[in-house]
Amino acid sequence: MENGSRRYGRGFTLWFTGLSGAGKTTISEIVERELRERFGKVEVLDGDIVRTNLSKGLGFSREDRDTNILRIGFVADLLRRNGVAVIVSAISPYKEARDEVRRTIGEDFVEVYVDAPLEVCADRDVKGLYKKAFSGEIAQFTGVSDPYEEPAAPELHIKTDEEEPHESARRVIAKLDELGYLRPVREFDRA
Ligand SMILES: Nc1ncnc2c1ncn2[C@@H]1O[C@H](COP(=O)(O)OP(=O)(O)OP(=O)(O)O)[C@@H](O)[C@H]1O
Ligand SMILES: [Mg+2]
Repeated sequence: MENGSRRYGRGFTLWFTGLSGAGKTTISEIVERELRERFGKVEVLDGDIVRTNLSKGLGFSREDRDTNILRIGFVADLLRRNGVAVIVSAISPYKEARDEVRRTIGEDFVEVYVDAPLEVCADRDVKGLYKKAFSGEIAQFTGVSDPYEEPAAPELHIKTDEEEPHESARRVIAKLDELGYLRPVREFDRA
């Protein structure tokens, strides 16, 4: 593919945004394994982990959330400039902060909106946080007591209430392939 030969080997940032429980971490783990095969150097910046080190001490006010996102974007940019495939999984609820990261990173920013209705995320309640958010035990919870601004034009929009995680991951890989970031796979390599 025309694009493929142009971008292959270049670093990029794959940015998963969406509500808690929408499926960002689940999809990113599958994509990470595939990228190790088809790309090489991969780093993951997952919101939960980042908040225990790089962003330790930050809370959930708009200012702190934005600081968290801009820090993640800063590190992602350093890595991607050095040819790394960077996977970010962070709620990143504010459009302005996401767009600022997009401007920093430029064309190698691939935004994936991991979308599931609030009721579905709350029903999954993977971490038991929605229960606490609805009861008021925790405040400023995205989608419940804090805003989530949907991406207007993400590179990919995935509805995780309509398909299985592997299918979602497959579509992410297909998008990266279409954008030309992945080494072409010969049919017999897949066997
Ligand atoms: N297509 C899908 N893609 C991803 N996850 C899915 C899908 N279908 C169902 N799920 C389920 O949804 C849940 C998603 O949880 P996950 O921890 O990945 O969310 P998250 O977006 O990373 O949330 P948080 O922001 O709290 O870290 C998992 O239990 C997963 O099995
Ligand atoms: Mg997660």
